[in-house]
Amino acid sequence: MSLLEPFRDLPVKTFETTWRSPANIAFVKYWGKKGHQIPANPSLSLTLKECVTQTKTTFTPSENLEVELFLGGDRKDAFGVKIKNYLHSLEAELPFIKNLHVKIDTSNTFPHGAGIASSASGLSAFALCFTDYLHAQSGQTDESLFFKRASFLSRLASGSACRSVYGGFVTWGESELADSTDEYAHPFEVHPELKYLRDSVLVISAEEKNVSSRAGHDRMKEHAFAQARFVQAKQNFTDTVVALKMGDMDRVGEILENEALSLHAMMMTSPESFTLLRPNTLAAIEMVRTFRRETNLPLYFTLDAGPNLHLIYPEVFRSKIQTFIQHELTPFVVRVIDDERGEGPVKC
Ligand code: DP6
Repeated sequence: MSLLEPFRDLPVKTFETTWRSPANIAFVKYWGKKGHQIPANPSLSLTLKECVTQTKTTFTPSENLEVELFLGGDRKDAFGVKIKNYLHSLEAELPFIKNLHVKIDTSNTFPHGAGIASSASGLSAFALCFTDYLHAQSGQTDESLFFKRASFLSRLASGSACRSVYGGFVTWGESELADSTDEYAHPFEVHPELKYLRDSVLVISAEEKNVSSRAGHDRMKEHAFAQARFVQAKQNFTDTVVALKMGDMDRVGEILENEALSLHAMMMTSPESFTLLRPNTLAAIEMVRTFRRETNLPLYFTLDAGPNLHLIYPEVFRSKIQTFIQHELTPFVVRVIDDERGEGPVKC
């Protein structure tokens, strides 16, 4: 039975709710789809704490589906149209959507244009509001089903958003793990020594990127290396799972960097080539490698679909590593956002 079946005949009522939902950083990347919002390989991420989106959504009855969206108080019609198209795509399963007016007031804690992807936090925050509407109108109270549905609905809006509805490490996509599925994400327990990882985000450039993730996924369809990449990602997923369970930070870090560089290699070698890395990204990577060689401290980097470097390390090394970042890396960056493992979304 579809996760949305119990809500097919819901009446339309007025309802208001607010959720705060975090961004996440993928250790094993989702890059390439094999159907509508179905990932070509499993992925694994760490949910962040400070980079969050807070979204208040008001649902009211209406003649037709209408969406109004305000970001930081400013009306943003282009984002409103995206949410409207998304809701429209759910109408076959949830016909009452046709008669909803949806007002969304959203804001990010991280500076707008800081180069931090807001789609995972933003779309999961909206999906949580919508799931709250579904559950409240139908009197459902099962918390574990609530988050499963929120993850499912987040995935349909943006794949990586489905991992943001859980705290800590999260997996998504069919794999050797029990209960794994392409439909929604699962939280993943790791060795206690790797539980509290930090992520210092080096913002190398805050400019809007010129190729969206959605377009990037599309370019994997005709990519000469696509199949090899999916095989590699599956192996990296399996190996990361083992290393996280065993508490082997060096192995986790080795794969983390391989994933980041493989993702960007795919971009640069895709049929319509594009490059999101900047000279300062590469300069900072070299500094991190040198620091690791000289100190033996477990400091590793990753990247998402942009030029900014995420520096990942266990909490216990915070002081030495942050001194290095402040002293050595500030010339290459416009700002540093200090983040860490977060425990997932909250209802406000
Ligand atoms: C590089 O989730 O933004 O961040 O499903 O098309 O919305 P859509 O794509 P999106 O892609 C994320 C790509 C990534 C890797 C990752 O987070 O796994």
